[in-house]
Amino acid sequence: MFVSKNLSVNEKGHLTAGGIDTVELAKEYGTPLYVMDEDLIREHCRSFKQSIDKYYGGEGLACYASKAFCCRAMCKIMLEEGMGLDVVSEGELYTALSVGFPPERICFHGNNKTDSEIAFALEKGVGRIIVDNIFELERLNALAEKTGLTANIMYRIKPGIDAHTHNFIMTGQIDSKFGFALETGEAFEAVKKAIECSHINLVGLHCHIGSQIFDIDPFVRAAEVMLTFIAKIRDELKFEVKELNLGGGFGIKYTEEDAPVAYDRYMEKVSEKVKEVCAEKNIALPFILIEPGRSVAAPAGITLYTVGGRKVIPNIRTYISVDGGMGDNPRYALYQSKYDFEVANKAAEPKTDVVTVAGKCCETGDLLGEGVSVQHVEVGDTLAVLATGAYNYSMSSNYNRIPKPAVVMIKGGESRVVVKRETLDDVIRNDLL
Ligand code: LLP
Repeated sequence: MFVSKNLSVNEKGHLTAGGIDTVELAKEYGTPLYVMDEDLIREHCRSFKQSIDKYYGGEGLACYASKAFCCRAMCKIMLEEGMGLDVVSEGELYTALSVGFPPERICFHGNNKTDSEIAFALEKGVGRIIVDNIFELERLNALAEKTGLTANIMYRIKPGIDAHTHNFIMTGQIDSKFGFALETGEAFEAVKKAIECSHINLVGLHCHIGSQIFDIDPFVRAAEVMLTFIAKIRDELKFEVKELNLGGGFGIKYTEEDAPVAYDRYMEKVSEKVKEVCAEKNIALPFILIEPGRSVAAPAGITLYTVGGRKVIPNIRTYISVDGGMGDNPRYALYQSKYDFEVANKAAEPKTDVVTVAGKCCETGDLLGEGVSVQHVEVGDTLAVLATGAYNYSMSSNYNRIPKPAVVMIKGGESRVVVKRETLDDVIRNDLL
């Protein structure tokens, strides 16, 4: 009935998440409120890990892409689940290290890492720095030389795969700001250069073909393309690339229109192809890394709002105004992303309204959805947006100086705050006169 399996309706007709009444959560912690289900997050981690064990003899590591949802509690969960971590800035790295996350299980990404970020990653012993371009390689080698360290790196490669997804989040094709192009020979030249660098250890290659992908095929094709390149490197440069990082991008169910594949189907098919190509080209099976972000976090989250207004524009549309908006969820404004909505205090009732859900920002495009089908909405209702666990809190802003909402984590029927609600003092904290 709901897009996420941890959601249900209780005897009061209220929406529950992880067995907890969301109307009560809204009362206790206030709105807007992000609610994350720790049990479901852990279940997702385990299914990725188990799929690697089952289909690839455990010779791999699932690294949670923390950009999807990053806070100390989340990093601690990843630590406890034995996951690796993909970080993309000093801030994400700092958050992970602050909970004792082992640096050797961290992949550090970014298409323009600053010198201070590179130095920080080196100093902390980050396991794999994913180098995006030749300038970064040079800076990294120089810094490593200066500090007497050797940097373990992977190269980010554009495998030239069209992942049939939203243009904004399609990154494997040649016209992308990320990585080295294969077709032009740029990647091959870069590999030659890395091998020559005194303080660089090229351990592997990385690709990420996009996000919210439902097809297994593009992943399988990307693996094939990358292994063919690994074979070329072995043949022409006599160099063994030991690791292959295939990135993230596994699609999730936001609405009934979405039909994601089970995570282990992905690993099954990719492993099959990796084994086949390695046998054919006589290369050793690489250690495989994957970087699921959305698929770990998104289905585990919902956002709760309080409805403050209902504006009926005859023959045009009905606006429902909530106490949050593009500040806490910019995804509709950015990508016209579709979500399912529920009036949490009327979750057992039929969806009879079709509305536009508007945020409270001073911006016409501040919408959370249009043509949204929902129960009859009235002022004072608690409105829940489902599957908001990824790229919501992490992409939130203080536009209009609106404090960011709290994040509540639920686990085993209990709730706790893992990120405090910002206060008005937080809003002016860094201002100077
Ligand atoms: N690895 C790399 C190198 C990535 O760039 C990304 C996402 C991931 C892993 C995780 O992908 P996932 O499994 O979450 O699809 N803000 C957009 C999504 C941007 C994704 C950026 N990179 C959104 O809200 O849809």
